[in-house]
Amino acid sequence: MQNAAVIFLSVLLSAAFHPALSLVDGYLPNGDFERGPKASDMNGTVVKGPFAIPQWEISGFVEYIKSGQKQGDMLLVVPEGAFAVRLGNEASIKQKIKVVKGLYYSITFSAARTCAQEERLNISVAPDWGVLPMQTLYNSNGWDLYAWAFQATADEVVILIHNPGEEEDPACGPLIDAIAIKTLYPPKASNDNLVKNGDFEIGPYVFPNASSGVLVPPNIEDDHSPIPGWMVESLKAVKYIDSDHFSVPSGKRAVELVAGKESAIAQVVRTIPGKTYILSFVVGDASNSCEGSMVVEAFAGKNTLKVPYQSKGNGGSKPAALKFQAESTRTRIMFLSTFYTMRSDDFSSLCGPVLDKVKLLSVRNPKA
Ligand SMILES: *[C@@H]1O[C@H](CO)[C@@H](O)[C@H](O)[C@H]1NC(C)=O
Ligand SMILES: *[C@@H]1O[C@H](CO)[C@@H](O)[C@H](O)[C@H]1NC(C)=O
Ligand SMILES: *[C@@H]1O[C@H](CO)[C@@H](O)[C@H](O)[C@H]1NC(C)=O
Repeated sequence: MQNAAVIFLSVLLSAAFHPALSLVDGYLPNGDFERGPKASDMNGTVVKGPFAIPQWEISGFVEYIKSGQKQGDMLLVVPEGAFAVRLGNEASIKQKIKVVKGLYYSITFSAARTCAQEERLNISVAPDWGVLPMQTLYNSNGWDLYAWAFQATADEVVILIHNPGEEEDPACGPLIDAIAIKTLYPPKASNDNLVKNGDFEIGPYVFPNASSGVLVPPNIEDDHSPIPGWMVESLKAVKYIDSDHFSVPSGKRAVELVAGKESAIAQVVRTIPGKTYILSFVVGDASNSCEGSMVVEAFAGKNTLKVPYQSKGNGGSKPAALKFQAESTRTRIMFLSTFYTMRSDDFSSLCGPVLDKVKLLSVRNPKA
């Protein structure tokens, strides 16, 4: 009895002295901004004072927006709960969080462009940062979910989201809602698969209520990918989808190639020159009314394969394989969609073929 009590006490003490080893995956504290400023800390929609929004520190022209509020003739709609914040020119919000030094994390947040065409957001956890362009609307309701990743360089870090815009109207700027975090454990290549995270199971936080998928923007200024192992190349994003909201060919997660040739997903793998390899993968559709003739192009070094896929928009898939001989010790494998596709039920939402179950194996006896 006594021993049990001592053990119990020491567990309690160690819990008190070693705060949570890893942050729980999900919303940041007040990450959906449902707790807002006191009436005395507001002037109309404008938030006064740096600490008026619980858990957050703000600077510059920040507005606290209630769903259904009007701006000119535009109705502002908020995806999670009833409130969001809006960052005017040079405005920012930040929050200090506990993490584990050395680990990788992904941040998922929802944002909507309001008046300006060229709105951007700079998200940073020093020394990492990334500027996410918001010119392309992927989702017709105006809100998109974005993912970004960083490596923690300390046990306490500050997440900062800044609008670097310089619009004529100082209030012009993106709306932000629903900010969540997820720990990413780096995947490894194995003898069973030379591609890391080939089934895309490791990736950013997906909101249980969000049926739009998460955009993974091109990692131009960023070496840490929200889909570990993979890089998003070229100009536009790929969409990370999950089986709770979409049809996924294998496991619980996959990627949807939503921006034609303007978005490609790639990985550099170790290969032995002269050896023969087979790159296999599955192409399908997400069961999101994305219909028609699609083509996924696969690249392995200089070798390419075009895989046609006829989508009925209700979630089919088919396997494909590209056999090639490696020419170097590192081979770039890459996938893109040849065409742009729009949803048949919503002509302003981009969609495309789904890629999953990417596997690379060397062939012991290629002639057999
Ligand atoms: C509220 O905002 C208006 C318009 O910007 C300004 O004229 C006024 O002085 C502000 N009131 C307070 C109490 O800050
Ligand atoms: C998600 O949806 C459920 C059911 O509609 C609702 O009760 C819950 O509040 C929603 N969660 C968020 C974060 O919006
Ligand atoms: C983005 O923000 C970080 C942190 O404040 C800053 O170091 C970086 O220069 C910014 N990048 C751009 C392009 O504004």
